[in-house]
Amino acid sequence: MIGKKIEKAINEQINAETYSAYLYWSMSAALAGMNLPGFANWMRIQAMEEMTHAEKFFNYIVERGGTVTLTAIDGPPTEWKDVEAIFKNVLDHERKVTGLINGLMDLAMAEKDHASAMFLQWFVSEQVEEEASAEESLGKLKVAGTSSPALYMLDKEMAQRVFVPPITGE
Ligand code: FEO
Repeated sequence: MIGKKIEKAINEQINAETYSAYLYWSMSAALAGMNLPGFANWMRIQAMEEMTHAEKFFNYIVERGGTVTLTAIDGPPTEWKDVEAIFKNVLDHERKVTGLINGLMDLAMAEKDHASAMFLQWFVSEQVEEEASAEESLGKLKVAGTSSPALYMLDKEMAQRVFVPPITGE
């Protein structure tokens, strides 16, 4: 049976992951509006990945005999200055999520909840990847600058991303 404190914190994380999906979905819409379909594709897949994160937390609570409590999701921003501003926002957001995951891990350890600490390990690693991927995209955008041909090439690259459901930590 899952402890009440960790159950509450994980329920809050389900909200945070769903908000992440909502935020990236909104960014995908903004990117489509900037005539960057490849970036819009990349971001839509990012949103789908976030829903798999929410689902992992959901399934974990159920598996431990806890209660999933879904709450209202805040509305995300809908406008950004340009594509670089969007990716800066992604990086800032992922850093914030890393802080939330670390907070959950701290709680699991304080509660001596070894099962939750093991479960959260997947998210600790995932956040390293999430931040690295946002930094990489931001770096490429900085190199491309406002040059249309470079941005066009980058957009084609972002169009290649496909959704791959996670296979670990189910
Ligand atoms: Fe669910 Fe982007 O971390």
